[in-house]
Amino acid sequence: MKNRHFASILLNWYTTHKRDLPWRNTHNPYIIWLSEIILQQTRVAQGLPYFEIFLEKYPKVSDLASAPSDEVMRLWQGLGYYSRARNLHQCAKDIMKFHNGEFPKSYQELIKLKGVGSYTAAAIASFAFGETVAVVDGNVFRVLGRYFGLSEDISSGSGKRAFESLANEQISLENPAEYNQAIMEFGALHCTPKNPACTSCPLQAGCFAFKENLVQELPIKLGK
Ligand code: ADE
Repeated sequence: MKNRHFASILLNWYTTHKRDLPWRNTHNPYIIWLSEIILQQTRVAQGLPYFEIFLEKYPKVSDLASAPSDEVMRLWQGLGYYSRARNLHQCAKDIMKFHNGEFPKSYQELIKLKGVGSYTAAAIASFAFGETVAVVDGNVFRVLGRYFGLSEDISSGSGKRAFESLANEQISLENPAEYNQAIMEFGALHCTPKNPACTSCPLQAGCFAFKENLVQELPIKLGK
């Protein structure tokens, strides 16, 4: 019962609080992939203008694949983590060369692409193709860690796996993509790292961290 309860509260909250972001109005895997690579370690407000410039300059994966690398690197200037831009470009070329210009349609295939890790593969698989696979990013660690009182260290491999498995138990089977967006949005806007809005939280009644006064302690991150 608790399963459905957690997901349905998040989905309800999301309906009224979600931001209107351009990559949410599409199932195009290229557009979703581009947005997710840009948004890694980057805030929406910072990434949004880059997303718009890249999409305008390279409307299709074939446009990005055939662009000169110095041009791609120049457009990336200011975003940091430049290996993302190199991997982005290489991945576009690989899609053209090995996948006939089409993104693979499953998590298992997507994760083999250059620069695509478990988070990005889950995001593309669910948002573009409706696959029931949970995204786990910093926001998801925080929401799940606090609500369920999961005390595994999120900087360890076993900790990450524990969170991934909990996330996949909680995902809405009816609407996995919307659920993934909802939990990330809830972490970004409501269950924030500092000063989360516990007093007005729709999940407060079942939240372990709120009950035990551990909101600032969870999730646990021991590594750097
Ligand atoms: N950050 C990373 N992916 C995101 C998404 N799909 N929506 C909003 N913020 C994000």
